[in-house]
Amino acid sequence: MSAYQSIEVIQKEIEAASLQSEEEIEAFRIAFLGRKSGRITNLFKEIGSVPPADKKEFGRRVNELKQHAEALIESAREAMSTSVGSRGPSIDLTLPGRKPRRGTLHPLTQTLEDIQSIFERFGFGVAFGPEIEDDWHNFSALNFPPDHPARDMQDTFFIEPPNDDDGILLRTHTSPVQIRVMQEQAPPVRVIVPGRVYRNESLSYKSFCLFNQVEGLYVDEGVTFADLKQVLHVFARAMFGSDVKMRFRASFFPFTEPSAEVDIWWPNPELPGGGRWLEVLGCGMVDPNVLKAVDIDPERYTGYAFGMGVDRLAMLRYDIDDIRILYENDLRFLRQF
Ligand code: DAH
Repeated sequence: MSAYQSIEVIQKEIEAASLQSEEEIEAFRIAFLGRKSGRITNLFKEIGSVPPADKKEFGRRVNELKQHAEALIESAREAMSTSVGSRGPSIDLTLPGRKPRRGTLHPLTQTLEDIQSIFERFGFGVAFGPEIEDDWHNFSALNFPPDHPARDMQDTFFIEPPNDDDGILLRTHTSPVQIRVMQEQAPPVRVIVPGRVYRNESLSYKSFCLFNQVEGLYVDEGVTFADLKQVLHVFARAMFGSDVKMRFRASFFPFTEPSAEVDIWWPNPELPGGGRWLEVLGCGMVDPNVLKAVDIDPERYTGYAFGMGVDRLAMLRYDIDDIRILYENDLRFLRQF
């Protein structure tokens, strides 16, 4: 084959070539432009044997061929570095991915949701009430006498100071929602009321100026204290497991008669005695005066009520020894849940 024929053949091969990988590009480069025996390189070496009159034209065409080959390599490399899924230099698909950090629910929210789902299984609905409350709903309708110490500024955050019945305050408990629900709905009433409450108390590991309660109320014909004990026992087992230890202590609240407080045993090997009783809720039979305040006939209906401290339950459950940490939003604490 003459050198001129070789130029034609090589030109056609360049036009037909399709280079799809780094290896193919490199093989092409060596085959055509390799310094020792690339086919185009070899053509340059043949210039010497071309008749003098043709040298210039021959040289021009071999140069053109070389430029074509280089252009093909160039564009194949470019296509390689932008094409998806190629073995481009900057992406290593075998590297493990970076995991996005997922948030979790606050331990109080988790506890609240669990309390709620347990009582929903017992047929309780859920009600809410305002955090800014009036004196009548927070105290008077709940049978607090006018001179009760809880009405003192020492214990309650007043927004407008009390003047007879018309003070405005941050509710000190979720019990006023009992009144709001019974004003709206005739018996049978069976609700729980989750919510935030506020108290002007001295702060300690077990008291904060703000905390969460879940109120419970069941009013119907023939409701007894035995029903109350039953529901709270089942609740405690669902929440803390079947070996939970709980006790009822006689107590007093203006809005229940009789009244009790419930403690749950908090096992803690560091304490003398291996643990301590932690008060988690107050409860009792709805006082007839409360039913009268909302025009429910206490001769016909009876009811039980309870109010539990969600923070205390969360502390027991997650072994947290200071209530205040629940309100600090320290991520080192929150990420543990
Ligand atoms: N409201 C009471 C408190 O905050 C708790 C309470 C006790 C609620 C007895 C009740 C109840 O419904 O029957 O300390």
